[in-house]
Amino acid sequence: MHTKNYAMKISIIGLGSMGYNLTRNLISKGFLVSAYEKNINTVSDDIVTDLKGLTLKSSMKDLCSEYTGNQLVLLSVPATSVDQCIDDLANLLSPGDIVADLGNSLHSKSVLRSDFLAKRKIDFLGIGVSGGPRGAHLGPAIMAGGSKRAWNETKHIFESMAAKRNNTSACQYFGLPGNGHFIKAVHNGIEYALMAILAEISNVLMDGFGLERGSCAQRLAKILNSFTSSFLLDLTSQAVGMKSTDNKYLLDLVDHQIGHNGTGQWAVNAALDLGVSVPSIYSALSTRLLSNNFNFKRTTDAKAQKHERKSSHIDDLEMEEIIFFNFACALFQGLHLIEQYKKDISADFDISAVFKAWSAGCILQGKYLDFISAEFESYQSLDFSFLEILLNKKSTANRASIRKFISIANSMAIPIPTLSATIGYHDQIYSTHKLGEITQLQRHLFGDHPIKKHS
Ligand code: 6PG
Repeated sequence: MHTKNYAMKISIIGLGSMGYNLTRNLISKGFLVSAYEKNINTVSDDIVTDLKGLTLKSSMKDLCSEYTGNQLVLLSVPATSVDQCIDDLANLLSPGDIVADLGNSLHSKSVLRSDFLAKRKIDFLGIGVSGGPRGAHLGPAIMAGGSKRAWNETKHIFESMAAKRNNTSACQYFGLPGNGHFIKAVHNGIEYALMAILAEISNVLMDGFGLERGSCAQRLAKILNSFTSSFLLDLTSQAVGMKSTDNKYLLDLVDHQIGHNGTGQWAVNAALDLGVSVPSIYSALSTRLLSNNFNFKRTTDAKAQKHERKSSHIDDLEMEEIIFFNFACALFQGLHLIEQYKKDISADFDISAVFKAWSAGCILQGKYLDFISAEFESYQSLDFSFLEILLNKKSTANRASIRKFISIANSMAIPIPTLSATIGYHDQIYSTHKLGEITQLQRHLFGDHPIKKHS
C-alpha cells in the first residue's frame, strides 16, 4: 500500500460504524490516520488489525499532542458528544488546526461551534455525510460548510473519499459553517418522505391489490430498471421480501414502531421557521411519531379487506408513475426549503451543487433524481412551474393512476398519510379551488382582517 505524504496530519475521534468505515475509506486512499475511541474495548480487535495505516491513541491528548504541524481532526461521535469533544479539542489544538464534525448535527449548532473555535483561531467544518456505514467505506456523499481556508486545505481529502458519478463528485462545499449540515438535514427529511411513500405503496400493493409479500418484492424489483430506480426502491423491495431463518417474512415479525435521530424533525422545524410547506416530509415524520404513540395489539381488518378486495390490476407503468409523482413532489418540497434558507441567510451556493452532492453515495441517489437534476439544469429555477413541467413529463395531466391508487387505499382503510399529503399539496397548488378565499373571508368575519382582492 502506498501512503500519501500530505503535510496535514489526519486524526479521527470515534470508531463506531461510521468512524471506522470512514477511516477504512481514508486508508484505502493512501492516507495515514490516527484515531481515538473512548470505548476502545467495544471495538473489535479485527477492526484494529484490519486497518494498517491506523495508529490508535489512548487519549485525546495523545492524539493531538504528538504533531507540531497543522492537523485535521475528524469527529465521528454521537450528536450528544460533539460539544464536549469540541470543548476538549479547544484546549488541545493550536491556531491553524481544523476540526470537522462529520456527524448529523443541527446546523445552528455548527454555527455556534465554528464561532467558539474561531476565538481560538481553530477552523471548523460542519460536514453532512450520507450513505450509512457502507457509503462511508466505499464513497459517501459529502455536504460541507465552514471556513473557506480550512476547506481549501482539506478538500482533496474529502474529495478523494467521496462517491463520484460520471466524473461529478458528490463532495460539495456550501459556504457558511451551518450550510452543510442544513443540506444534510433536508436530505434526511426527504429520505423520511421517500421511505414512507415506498412503505405506503407497498402496503397498498399487498393489501389493496392482493400481492403476496414475495410478489410485491418482485414487482418493486422489476421496475428497478426504470426512471424510478433508486437506492431506496431497491432497499424497499429487499425489505418487503426479507425472510427469517425459518422462512417467515420479517415483515410479519418485526414491531411497528419507527425510531428517528432528529434530523427529519430539524428539517420540519426549519420549514416552519422559514414559512415553507413540506407536507410530505412532515407526514413521514408524523408516521414515525404516531407509530410510537400507540402500542396495543391492533385488530386487523384484513378479513374485511379481503372481502372488499377488487381484482384490480396495476401495471409497471402505473407503479412508476405513482412513485415518480410522489418522489418528485417530496424532493421539490425539500429543495424549496433549501432555496428559502439560501434567501434567508443570503447564501450564494448553487442548487446545482445540491443535485451534485446527492447524485451518488447518498440515500436519495437514483435515476429519478438524475432526471430531475438534468431538467433543473435546463430550467434553472425552482418555481412551481418547474414541478408541473416535471410531473407532466412522467404522468398524465389528470394524474389518473395516482388518484385511482389513492382511492383504492382509502376505500379499503389502508393508511396512506404521505401519499394523501402529497396529492393534497399538488392539488392545492395546481387545481381550481377556493381554500384560501374561504379562509380569508372567515378571518375577515371574526378578526376584522382586511380583505385582499385579485390584483
Ligand atoms: C444517511 C442517513 C443517516 C441517518 C440514518 C438514520 O444519509 O446516511 O440519513 O445519516 O442517520 O438514515 O436516520 P433515522 O434514525 O432518523 O432514521
